[in-house]
Amino acid sequence: ETGSAPDIAGKGIAYPIATILSFAMALRYSLDLDKEAEALEKAVQDVLNNPAKHGVGRFDPNDPNVVTGMTGAPACGDVMKLDLKLNPDTEVIEDVKFKTYGCGSAIASSTMFVDMLKGKTIEEAKLIKDRDIAEALQLPPIKLHCSVLAEDSIKKAIENWEEKSEHRKHNQYDSSSDEVGQD
Ligand code: FES
Repeated sequence: ETGSAPDIAGKGIAYPIATILSFAMALRYSLDLDKEAEALEKAVQDVLNNPAKHGVGRFDPNDPNVVTGMTGAPACGDVMKLDLKLNPDTEVIEDVKFKTYGCGSAIASSTMFVDMLKGKTIEEAKLIKDRDIAEALQLPPIKLHCSVLAEDSIKKAIENWEEKSEHRKHNQYDSSSDEVGQD
């Protein structure tokens, strides 16, 4: 019996220490989450206060060098519309605008996309993935679909550019064959 006393005493101390440690870790984790949430909220507030600075808006839809990608998230009903303005010779994205009807993470994802896309070629833009945005914004798992919405809109905008380019090539081909025919 005397031999078991230190064990009991040891367990008696170890248990509260483990409890305090796990409580401290949980508190630290929740403080970290609070900090992240605060940073995200600040970023979203800044977008709402200075929309033009963050690329909120749209381009002239009749401009032949403008393409659009619009996506909705079935899970929550939020919508993102992304406009890209391209240089047709170099296929470089010269400017980006968006309109997002959605949560803070979707708005933050949209502004991040503006910065990530400007100056990139279409081929480079294809390499940007939703996880790049989610990682940069440190989105929690429950918010991952918000960055997927952003990735889907860029995919749609790229498809729109490819369709327009095909159309342009087709028209050029048609008009040059007309000229050949006229000669
Ligand atoms: Fe809908 Fe974030 S909750 S996009």
